[in-house]
Amino acid sequence: MELVERIKKLKAERNAVILAHNYQLPEVQDVADFVGDSLGLSIQASRTSADLIVFCGVYFMAETAKIISPEKTVLIPDARAGCPMADMITADQLRYLKSRHQGAKVICYVNTTAAVKAECDLCCTSANAETIVRKTFRDDEEVIFVPDQYLAAFVAARTGRDFVIWKGFCPTHARILPEHVKEQKRLHPEAAVIVHPECRPAVIELADQALSTEGMCRFSRESAALQIIVGTEIGMLHRLRKENPGKTFYPATELAVCPNMKLTTLEKIVWAMEEMTHEVDVPEEIARKARVSIDRMLEVN
Ligand code: 13P
Ligand code: SF4
Repeated sequence: MELVERIKKLKAERNAVILAHNYQLPEVQDVADFVGDSLGLSIQASRTSADLIVFCGVYFMAETAKIISPEKTVLIPDARAGCPMADMITADQLRYLKSRHQGAKVICYVNTTAAVKAECDLCCTSANAETIVRKTFRDDEEVIFVPDQYLAAFVAARTGRDFVIWKGFCPTHARILPEHVKEQKRLHPEAAVIVHPECRPAVIELADQALSTEGMCRFSRESAALQIIVGTEIGMLHRLRKENPGKTFYPATELAVCPNMKLTTLEKIVWAMEEMTHEVDVPEEIARKARVSIDRMLEVN
C-alpha cells in the first residue's frame, strides 16, 4: 500500500502517466493509468498531455513511445527489460536482406529496435498487421516481413500473400505447444481457445481465434463462452479475470512466462520516478526515420 501511495504522489508531482503492457505483473497493471497492447500503448503515448511517461513493458515499447513523443521524458523502470525477438534482427542484417531483394517493400513488427524500424517502410502490431498489409501493398509487390516468422506466416495465410521472412520468433510463445492446447481442450471441452499470433502455426490451427492481447480482452468481453483457454504470456490472465469475473480462464501452459516483462516492480517504478532514471533516448537521425514507419502505421490504423 505504501508503495502505491508513493507512486500516486510522485505521479502528481511529476505530471506523469504510467503505461503498462498486458503482460506486466498484476500489481503493476493495477497501478497503471492505462493497460493495453503494443498498439494501444503507442496511441496513448501519442495522446497523453503528461510530461513524463513511465513505461512498464519492454524496451522497444518505451522506445516507440519516445519516438512518437520526443518532447516528453520516457522512463523505463528496468533498462534490462528487452525483447529477445526484437534483438533477433539488426539494422545491418535487414540492410543485407534488402540488398538481396531490391525494390521490395519492408514491413516490420513493432517488436524491433528503433534502428530496424528506421530501415522499414512501415510498422505493424499484431492487432493491425493483416489490415495494414491488405491496405498498403499491391498484389504484385514483393514484401519483406520481419522479424517474426510466425506472425508473418499468420498474416500470409490470412491474406494469401507470400512474404520474404526472417526466422525470428518469440521464445515465450514458442514454449506453447500443440500438446498443451490439446490437453486443455480435453480438460475443458466447452472452452473457447484464443492464442496470440506469435504462437507456432500448429498452435494457431487449434484456436478459435488468434488475437493481439487487446483483441483477447475484447473477445473475452463479447464472447458467449464462459470458459476460455488462453495461449499467450500468463500475465494476460490477470486482466482477463479482473474484467470478466463470471468467466473462467485457463492458461494453455504456465510455462509461457516472459522474464523481461516481469522485471518491472512497484519498487522500481518508485525508484524510476524519484531518481528520474532509466531515461529512454533514441538518436535523432534514427528516431526521425523510425517515426515515418510508426506514423504510417498509425495513419493506416
Ligand atoms: P501485443 O501487441 O498483442 O500486446 O503483443 C506484444 C507482445 O510482445 C507479444 O509478445
Ligand atoms: Fe518479446 Fe515475446 Fe516477451 Fe513479447 S512475450 S516482449 S515478443 S519476448
